Amino acid sequence: MSIWRVKPVSAFEADMKKSDLKRVLTRWGLTSLGIGAIIGGGIFTLTGIAAHDFAGPALALSFVIAGIGCLFASLCYAEFASVLPVEGSAYAYAYGTVGELFAWFIGWNLILEYMMGATTVAVAWSGYFVKLLHLFHIEFPIWLCNDLATATEKCLALGMQAPSFAFNLPSFLITWIVTAILVKGIKEAANTNNIIVIVKIAVVLFVIIVGAFYINTDNWTPFIPAEIPKLDEHGVATGGVKFGFGGVLTAATIVFFAYIGFDAVSTQAGEAINPKKDVPFAIIASLVICTILYILVSLVLTGMVKYDQLDKAAPVASAFSGIGINWAVFIITIAATAGLTSVMLVMMLGQTRIFLGMAKDGLLPSFFKNLHPTFKTPYRSTILVGAIISLVAALTPIEKVSEMCSMGTLLAFAMVCIAVMILRYKKPELERPYRTPAVYLVGSLGVAFNIFLMCFVRKETWFAFVIWGLIGIAVYFLYSKRNSKLNNPEL
Ligand code: ALA
Repeated sequence: MSIWRVKPVSAFEADMKKSDLKRVLTRWGLTSLGIGAIIGGGIFTLTGIAAHDFAGPALALSFVIAGIGCLFASLCYAEFASVLPVEGSAYAYAYGTVGELFAWFIGWNLILEYMMGATTVAVAWSGYFVKLLHLFHIEFPIWLCNDLATATEKCLALGMQAPSFAFNLPSFLITWIVTAILVKGIKEAANTNNIIVIVKIAVVLFVIIVGAFYINTDNWTPFIPAEIPKLDEHGVATGGVKFGFGGVLTAATIVFFAYIGFDAVSTQAGEAINPKKDVPFAIIASLVICTILYILVSLVLTGMVKYDQLDKAAPVASAFSGIGINWAVFIITIAATAGLTSVMLVMMLGQTRIFLGMAKDGLLPSFFKNLHPTFKTPYRSTILVGAIISLVAALTPIEKVSEMCSMGTLLAFAMVCIAVMILRYKKPELERPYRTPAVYLVGSLGVAFNIFLMCFVRKETWFAFVIWGLIGIAVYFLYSKRNSKLNNPEL
């Protein structure tokens, strides 16, 4: 059946030959790219919401749980990346192995991952930017740096009148700046990325080392605060719980976001010197390094500040302003705004490259593969992506977009775990420079873990997610199946 048709390996090889990307990335260069994509809004911002509303000091436990799910997925990603070292990430792997509909659905979820990921980071960027301006006594009106729901919550908490309109201007503007950079092309940005990665790791180490001196261990008790069912304004349970072990799991789905990005390494296979060995190495190394850093940061943060006092917009910087070290706040806000910008670049770039890959295969209209005559970038789809992200970021609370991002990614990860097992079964003879250890066990645990975490996402996010999935299936059957290049080889 055509929905199971598989893109032949020769077609991948032809695509790779046509690509004029230079092979310049070493294994540590790739790892640096991975870390650059991973450390961002998750650790700098979502830790505040996750600890304040759901996990309390057990935030570190949430990071461990989310990290385990990612580790299984990363081991499966690594095998795929070694078999098919092509651009396009999980979408391309699935197309070469399991079949077109499965690949389409992974691609559709990756769109959600990258688009909502960049949106989340844009909102996080705004939180730190406003904090930075505040250090210079420049104040943004609340309604001009938040969405309406968040602005209302903040105004009411301050005893002010709730606004009738709100627009997150900084996140809107940063999205257009990043869009402009991407339309022009980011070749020059590769070196800047390495510098930003060093700055980011330095600042995270700084938070851990300096913050450790300000830990008050009383703040860690109770480690898991008692459970409170979460109700909406009508008193109806919304599916999530505050605190308790259920809260720790909900927090795990929130901070899962902080790990997203290790898969971005796999989109860079075309530029690796030795992709078959180095891409798997970089995927696993960047994930392990970030997991250790995250667990330490969350212990320090919840030790410095009582969880219910953590700031939700810029928790890392605010923890230091709380203890009066303003020079540290300055360093952290500068590093965070730069670091978050680099995550946005990688996510929006990844997004347009996935569109490009799907359009080249005929599954999306050629609008998504038209290159700019001078800059040679897919400018139309970049501008479309920028327009969507800027508006959603300006108008939506961060926890809503980050949850949508996590949902798409969790499902994509589970599908990658399934695909790697199918490939082992169907084609055991393929050369695999990296083999997932105990693949059927690791793969099954990966599927189980990622689907399990999806169960702890709020009901309204599930609703939006199901609608997104149904639209995806409709687009596939109405457009992509018919226009697939595998259907029309002469195209
Ligand atoms: N992991 C990335 C971040 O936290 C997406 O910003």
